[in-house]
Parts: sequence; structure tokens; C-alpha cells
Amino acid sequence: MEFKELVRANRSCRRFHQDHKIELESLRELVDLARLSASGSNKQPLKYILASETERNARIFPLLGWAAYLKDWTGPSEGERPSAYIVILGDKNISQTFGVDPGIAAQSILLGATEKGLAGCIIATINKDKLSQTLGISDQFEILYVLALGKPKETIRIESVGADGNIRYWRDEQGVHHVPKRSLDEVIIG
Ligand SMILES: Cc1cc2nc3c(=O)[nH]c(=O)nc-3n(C[C@H](O)[C@H](O)[C@H](O)COP(=O)(O)O)c2cc1C
Repeated sequence: MEFKELVRANRSCRRFHQDHKIELESLRELVDLARLSASGSNKQPLKYILASETERNARIFPLLGWAAYLKDWTGPSEGERPSAYIVILGDKNISQTFGVDPGIAAQSILLGATEKGLAGCIIATINKDKLSQTLGISDQFEILYVLALGKPKETIRIESVGADGNIRYWRDEQGVHHVPKRSLDEVIIG
């Protein structure tokens, strides 16, 4: 896939073919992309927890918040949930702050997932206390993001932000997800 096409295709996806198994080896390949990505002062303070089996996935899912703008939707229903997760952690023994490292790592992982025919979503709305408990994460680590991954089961279209400036994504009657993006002329200011 041409790089721009890969970036366009890499949309936040929240409904999946849950029965599509993602092997741990695939998740390891994705984390390898994060491992090779830029890191402030090259400290490389990020660590990862992988989840791909049903029981672990089921413990992670209820601790995540989905699509705040879709007010009448509480998240993917059984059968459409992610089939894997990558939890991004900051190792406080290496650094007290993590800057933009987790964002860069997340993008590398999601681009790699898109190239593999998968899709995903960065999740920041996390019940961190409960996730620490359920995964046995010690105080050494700060939970930064969870990446939800799976085989996509939704169509997503990029739209232009209209004159009203509304940037909220929406879902139409056919279930197509629409995500408004500002124009190039709006974002380049000089
Ligand atoms: C830092 C960050 C945190 C996010 N947290 C959530 C989240 O908690 N739940 C969710 O459903 N989507 C989350 N998203 C996905 C955004 O809603 C999504 O990126 C946005 O709607 C634009 O869609 P796009 O990624 O397809 O361009 C997050 C994205 C980013 C970059």
C-alpha cells in the first residue's frame, strides 16, 4: 500500500470480527515497530502487555471507554469486540515522564496493523486501577494507553469539516462511521 493510502486507511475502528484470532507473534511484530520508533532522549521507557486470548480479552474489555461522541452507543457488542489488545505502559524506573513516546508508538503499531489488514483504536479512557489489578501491573508502571485491535467490521469515511466547524464523528443509518478532518489550508497557518 502506498504510504499516504496506509495513513488514510488507518482509521480508529471500534467494531471487529471478534472470532478472527490474532496470534501473539503478530502482536510481537507490531510492538517491534514501536520498539524501533523515536523516543525522547532515546530513553525507551515504554513497556507492553499483550492480550490475545478470550479470557484475558474479556477481563480488559469492560475497563475501556468507547466513542464518547456516539451518545447512544456504549461500545462494541459481543461478537464485535477486539480480538487483541496491546497495553502501553511507562516504566517509572526509566523515566518519570513519557512525553509523546506513547503516541508515536501507538501510531507505528496501528500503521503496522493496518498493513496486516487489521484495524484498531487508541483508548485513553481506561479504568486504570482495575486494569492494574486484573493484569497484576505493579506501581513501577504507569498505564498510558490501551490499543484495541481486530479484523475491521465497519466502514469508515473521512469527511471534510463543514462551515460549522463540527469535528464530532458520527454514524449513519447504514452503520457507516464518518470522521471529519480539517482541510490542509486550515491547518497550515503560515
Ligand atoms: C490520545 C488519543 C486517545 C483516544 N482515546 C479514545 C478512547 O478512549 N476511546 C475511543 O473510542 N477512541 C479514542 N481515541 C480515538 C479518537 O476518537 C479518534 O482518533 C478520532 O475520533 C479520529 O478518528 P481517526 O483516528 O479515525 O482519525 C483516541 C485517540 C487518541 C489519539
